Amino acid sequence: DGTLLAPTPPMGWMTWNYFADNINEKDIREMADAMVSSGMLKAGYNHVFIDDGWQGGRDKRNNMIGDPKKFPSGIKALADYVHSKGLKLGIYSDAAPLTCAGYTASLNFEDQDAKTFASWDVDYLKYDYCGAPDDMEVAKTRYKKIADALRKSGRDIALGICEWGDRKPWLWAGQVGGQLWRTTADVRDKWKSLKPVKKQSELHGTGAGILDIVDYSQQYGSYAGPGHWNDMDMLVVGLYGKKGPSGDLGGVGCTDTEYQSQMSLWSIMNSPLAATNDVRNMNAETKRILLNDEVIAINQDALGKQAVCKIKNDTWSVFVKPLANGDFAIAILNRTETTQNSKINFAELGLNDTYEIKDLWEHKVIGKGKKWNGKVQRHETKVFRLKKI
Ligand code: GLA
Repeated sequence: DGTLLAPTPPMGWMTWNYFADNINEKDIREMADAMVSSGMLKAGYNHVFIDDGWQGGRDKRNNMIGDPKKFPSGIKALADYVHSKGLKLGIYSDAAPLTCAGYTASLNFEDQDAKTFASWDVDYLKYDYCGAPDDMEVAKTRYKKIADALRKSGRDIALGICEWGDRKPWLWAGQVGGQLWRTTADVRDKWKSLKPVKKQSELHGTGAGILDIVDYSQQYGSYAGPGHWNDMDMLVVGLYGKKGPSGDLGGVGCTDTEYQSQMSLWSIMNSPLAATNDVRNMNAETKRILLNDEVIAINQDALGKQAVCKIKNDTWSVFVKPLANGDFAIAILNRTETTQNSKINFAELGLNDTYEIKDLWEHKVIGKGKKWNGKVQRHETKVFRLKKI
């Protein structure tokens, strides 16, 4: 049952945005150590997701192997290490002969590769769609094939579908056995793209920012729920435009206010939370943002309802998410380039009671009533928890 594999949105740290395919076992072990020592694991980030670039081709029996230079001890040893830290291990492949970055992938080897991943004690598979036909039926078939193979592999392995949204995975990904699906092309370390696009895969060319991903993803909320989530791609929090060993993936860097917005919006929209910054070297602001337990609790809430965007205009996006205990989370995003005064009557959001208002970034109750008036900085997102009184 897919629900058991991802009852709440998966959390962890993913290699791609910082390292790209310049990965190796030493860095990943260090990152696993840092996830424990920094409090990331305790906060819920319990996966290390290896992205593209781990592959070393196939052996004589066609079994996939890790790159012996990058992973001299093998992927199984790395999985053991990661598990010994209380973390789970994710790995990556693609529904074509080659991955997006040109490494060996799994088309026509689905059963064999799923068995290999299971024999390594892998817990999660991100399965990409580069090099595969732009056809919804083919996509469904290829993803069902790998999902079935994982189910028969003898191990519980969650499946993340990464086909950028063009083949409408929200309509079928859950049925074929996926636990999450990307809604767009890759997010970059930037606020927004300057070029308008017609469909989400075009965001790949322009380099999508945080705001682009939010605007494309908000419409698919009704498809998400326990066991099947809209994946808005990785958190870019704490990257600051730094080029890691990955070289330039097209990010320019964001302000801490913008990173706080990403954390707020990914949380209220129930996206998986996959950090990608260098966890070994986090500044205080990055920690404050990634480790906000009250915001994470909104993301991980047991009801599993994605927020609905109730107000959207040039100035504001306002989201409402019902929570398991009857509270509501709301997020108020200032889309403009200047500070704005918000005057919100909760009734406009369909919330007709009187509430105690807790600001989850201030970590304190800021008032009671049927409305909130206050300032929101440029690109800032306020997150409040409303408790009926
Ligand atoms: C695609 C995916 C990214 C990453 C790269 C790896 O672009 O969308 O998340 O996995 O491939 O090559």
